[in-house]
Order: sequence, then structure tokens, then C-alpha cells
Amino acid sequence: MVDLLLGLQWGDEGKGKIVDVLTKDYDIIARFQGGPNAGHTLEFDGIKHVLHTIPSGIFHENAINVVGNGVVIDPVIFKKELDNLEKFNIDIASKLLISRKAHLILPTHRLLDAASEAAKGKAKIGSTLKGIGPTYMDKTGRNGMRVGELEFDTWKKKYRTLADKHEAMIGFYNVDIQYDLAELEEEFYEGVKTLKQLQFIDSEEYIFQAQTEGKKILAEGAQGSLLDIDFGTYPYVTSSNTTAAGACTGLGVAPNKIGSVLGIFKAYTTRVGSGPFPTELFDADGETMGRVGNEFGATTGRPRRCGWLDLVALKYAVQINGVTELMMMKADVLSGFKTIKVCTAYKYKGQEIQHLPYNIESTNVTPIYEEMKGWAKDLTKMTKASELPPALNDYIAFLEEELKVPIKIVSVGPDRLQTIHR
Ligand code: GDP
Ligand code: IMO
Ligand code: MG
Repeated sequence: MVDLLLGLQWGDEGKGKIVDVLTKDYDIIARFQGGPNAGHTLEFDGIKHVLHTIPSGIFHENAINVVGNGVVIDPVIFKKELDNLEKFNIDIASKLLISRKAHLILPTHRLLDAASEAAKGKAKIGSTLKGIGPTYMDKTGRNGMRVGELEFDTWKKKYRTLADKHEAMIGFYNVDIQYDLAELEEEFYEGVKTLKQLQFIDSEEYIFQAQTEGKKILAEGAQGSLLDIDFGTYPYVTSSNTTAAGACTGLGVAPNKIGSVLGIFKAYTTRVGSGPFPTELFDADGETMGRVGNEFGATTGRPRRCGWLDLVALKYAVQINGVTELMMMKADVLSGFKTIKVCTAYKYKGQEIQHLPYNIESTNVTPIYEEMKGWAKDLTKMTKASELPPALNDYIAFLEEELKVPIKIVSVGPDRLQTIHR
């Protein structure tokens, strides 16, 4: 069986932290989609780590980490991630396996991302500029380069043909993008050299065999359900399926082999980049969430937009993914709010609705809130569910009742140990 861990909001729910917490119970941690647009933060022993492509189980001796076929890999960023891990003496050669079918992000994909965003002007997606969109476009357009290609001498020739085409395409955008491709290629070739030192595998076969041997596998999602290419707030989304089905295509796991679906959400909501966000706050409460929650993007450093929990959107994500267990993150950040608000419905075309309509722009939907009593206690030193303040227990009970799924973990700080199991 393969369990899934998925972000249920607009990303940055705390997936990295929870994968790290859960890895002791798994043999394999596998990424199935996204690429270095992800920034997954882990904290333990007073050190903070940010991973982009490497699965968040990498610090545990017991687990093998797999970068699946659905992932897009930038060798330049990958090399930097590996360099950062060097001092931790991890046996990367045996613990980190790469799918031959994963696609490569080329330097020109990054440039195309920048050109596309510049051409959009105010309507830009707010992409992380890591080349994600153009790489997935080449994948579905059947022009992409895969990791397996690097095992053949012809790869440089193929690279050149594709990069030349990309340069011509950059010209079509008619925007001012400054770059030195020779310099970018130098780092790219260095990155490829490093990548080639790792084991390339037929990951679908590896995952299949692991299942027949009864190994426990956890698939680590990137981004969040509302950034899903089909079910997110299109076009302000990423270019992969971040929802449960993405794990089937991104690893080659059959749907009837999916076990638990662990859904992770913040006790409030954040979003980085452009796009609709019905419960977004522009007042002191939003500012407090951002400051206390240290809400800055782990990949780009951009401030994250903050707002109250949107239960309409969360229910939608629970539904699309078939979530069986929930994890609520950053409960500590809400300590001190006199009142906690939860959006339980939208006003849409004069009516109250409880589902996500086609368009959730603020011109279309207005959130309707229920108010609950806040709690003042600092949660960050708590380790047991019995210590949680009554008002937080009421909040949790309310959410469980609304979502019809149990909340099994309440996270009260960024550290591995600041995790309460219920
Ligand atoms: P991911 O992309 O889902 O892995 O999440 P990120 O790492 O991008 O963002 C989550 C941020 O919140 C990171 O800085 C974490 O260290 C931090 N974090 C995770 N859980 C908690 C928590 O319960 N409380 C607080 N205060 N911070 C947390
Ligand atoms: P993790 O895994 C939050 C957002 C970008 C932008 C949109 C498209 O850390 O949760 P892209 O670079 O994919 O073309 O950007 O998606 N985005 C994320 N937001 N967390 C992420 O990943 C994100 N990955 C992409 O900000 O709005
Ligand atoms: Mg993140």
C-alpha cells in the first residue's frame, strides 16, 4: 500500500515537517510531482533545512527516497541541494534514487518562464520562475528531455536542439530578458555531472516490487490542492496534478493500491503568488498571522498572503483527494487572537453556497464567517493532546464535524518535536 501526504490549500502547509515526522514509519518516501518550485522546510536539533526536489525523508537512515517520474528536476538546483546536505554525511548514493522518466528543467525553461511572466504583465501567475510551466509544456507537448536520456551520448545534441528552439521562442515573447546562456549552460553541465553520479531507476518497477515485498511507502506531495492544474484556481495554479490522482501517474501506483490519504492544512490560510483568495486579510489580523507565522516563501522569500481558514475550499480539497486523516499545522500561530473566524460558506450570485464555484474571484464570491472563541495560551511547549486549551479543542471539534475526517496531528511549532498526536 502507498499512503499519500497532500497539501490541501495553496501550498506551504508544512508537508516537509510532517513527512520528516512520519518517515520513521516508512521504508520509502517518494515525490511524485512538481519540482524546485517546492520549498519544504524541516527543523530538528536546532537546524532548519529547506528541500526543493529531494524528498523530506532524506535525514532518516531507515528510508530510501525516490524522485518519481512525475517530478521535474533542475540539475542546477539539485546540485545545490546536494551540496547543502554534504555536511550531514548522508549516504546519498544508496538513499536517493531518481526515476529515468522524470523530466529535466533546462536553463532555457527558466528563461521561458520569465519571458512568459513578463509578457503577462499585471496578469502574471506569480510563478516561482523555476521553469516549471515550460518544462511540463514540453513534457505534454512530447518534446521534453528525460533523466534517462543522460545515459546516452546523444543527450547533448538533443539538449542543443531543444535549447535553440527555446531561444527562438523567447524571441517571440518580445520582452526584455537579459541572460548569458553560455554561463547558464556551464552550471547546467556541472549539475548534470552531479546528477549522473546518482542511481537512475525505473521507478515504477521499483515501487511495484517494493509493494510486493510489503514495504511501506509514503508519497510526498508538493504544492497544494488549490494549485492543481485541473482543480485549482486556474490559471493561477502550477502545471502538475497536486491531488491524489497525481500520485498514481507520478509514480505508477495503481488507484487500488492507495492506502491512507493524509491531508495537511494550516489552522488559517496562506497563498504566495497571484490569484483569488476569498478569505485574504488586509488588516492587522492578517499582518499578525504573517509575522507570527513567519510567512515568507521557502523558495522565493516572497511574503505569503494570509487569511482565515476557508472551510469551503478545504472541504473541496478533502473531497477531491479522498482524505482519510487530517493534520492541522501552525495552531500556535493563532494563540492570542480573541476571536477566530472560519469561512463556512460563500455568498455567490445572491445565494449562500457551500461548494467551490467555477470562479472564486472576490468580485464573484464573498466569504461568510462563523466566529469562535480564541485562546491565549502559548502552545509551543505542549507535547500532549490533553494539554491543548479548551477553545482550541472546540475549534478542532468544529472542523472535524464539518469535514467528517479526524484531525490526527496538531502541529504547534516548526520543530519535529512540536507535534501533537491525537
Ligand atoms: P511545505 O512547503 O508544505 O513543506 O511548507 P513550507 O516549509 O514551505 O512552509 C511551512 C513553514 O511553517 C516552514 O517555515 C515551517 O518550518 C513552518 N512550520 C511548520 N509547522 C509549523 C507549526 O506548527 N508552527 C509554526 N509556527 N511553524 C510551522
Ligand atoms: P510547496 O511544495 C506555495 C505557486 C507560485 C505561483 C504558482 C505557479 O512548497 O508547497 P510555478 O512556479 O509552479 O509555475 O508557480 O504556484 N507555487 C507555490 N506556492 N508553495 C509551493 O510549493 C508552490 N509551488 C508553486 O507561487 O503562484
Ligand atoms: Mg513550501
